[in-house]
Amino acid sequence: MSMATLQLSKEDAWEAFKQVLIPQCQNITTHAGLRVPFFVTPESIAEAASLPLDPSDVWIATYAKAGTTWTQNIVKLIRSKGEKDGVLLMKSVPWAEAKHPSTLFKVNLSTLPKPRAFKSHMPYELMPCGKPNTTPCKYIYVARNPKDVATSYFFHHIRMTVRKDATTLDWDLFFRNFIYGNVDFGDFFDHVLSWWPHRNDDNVLFLMFEDMKKDPRTAITRIATFIGADISDEVIDKVVAETSFDSMKKDETANYSALNFIAKPGSTAFMRKGEVGDWRNHLTPEQSAEIDQLCQEKLKDTGLLFDFGE
Ligand code: PPS
Repeated sequence: MSMATLQLSKEDAWEAFKQVLIPQCQNITTHAGLRVPFFVTPESIAEAASLPLDPSDVWIATYAKAGTTWTQNIVKLIRSKGEKDGVLLMKSVPWAEAKHPSTLFKVNLSTLPKPRAFKSHMPYELMPCGKPNTTPCKYIYVARNPKDVATSYFFHHIRMTVRKDATTLDWDLFFRNFIYGNVDFGDFFDHVLSWWPHRNDDNVLFLMFEDMKKDPRTAITRIATFIGADISDEVIDKVVAETSFDSMKKDETANYSALNFIAKPGSTAFMRKGEVGDWRNHLTPEQSAEIDQLCQEKLKDTGLLFDFGE
């Protein structure tokens, strides 16, 4: 890591970062103090907040790049008994608090047929329809180790938020901004630690991306049991197959290729690698040690341990 980048203050790191971002992403947008994308607006938050809830509603909550889309697809396919319907996943399981700029993803939340499932990137206290322990809904939170999240988020920024005319995004600069929480949904640790104390609540299922990778069948069975779906072994096999990385990469309803027209040319696909440990190709030993140190400090006495892969 260059010394210059290493020593940037939080403000200077953001100043340098925003130079390569598309104009809409250069102004910081916040909701209750949390950094959110520009298309998470007071109106879109209010629309979600006004939704009458139902006990059959399932919320999939994550920090960015932690396995949201994968889990959305698992819930959708469990409920359809493994049958695909050709509808974009982002319409079937919409992002509740967002008014996505692409009309492709426009969904009227209040007319979504039940049983419904929603995606959210909010921490526990800011979930759009109230804190989970005050609602009748079920919540699946997926956490992923911060080194792979940072790596995946870096490629996400190049794909979606870096200006098409900017050469690229410097990894060291992005890493510093990630560490400072100068990204949408803010500080990684704050987010995960907002959900972690609720991991044993009756209406919360707390999953780890790395466990899902190691044993998708067990994860899918746990999700099915949690959401009260009665499905056969045969259907579980089908859901395992349809939600594998390779199947989803080919599935135009789930792989976000619908957004390729706004992606930076030459950037990686949304379904990029789907691995545990790809961070080894990107983090320097110093950056890796910095995250290890943060884990020691921030996760001390919480019992939360991340799996960084082999
Ligand atoms: S987002 O934009 O926040 O909603 O992104 P999110 O869906 O949370 O995370 C994207 C990363 O998840 C990987 N992914 C998968 N990995 C394994 N198996 C399956 N089925 C799968 N589906 C998505 C995706 O490739 C992104 O991770 P990286 O490491 O960038 O490949």
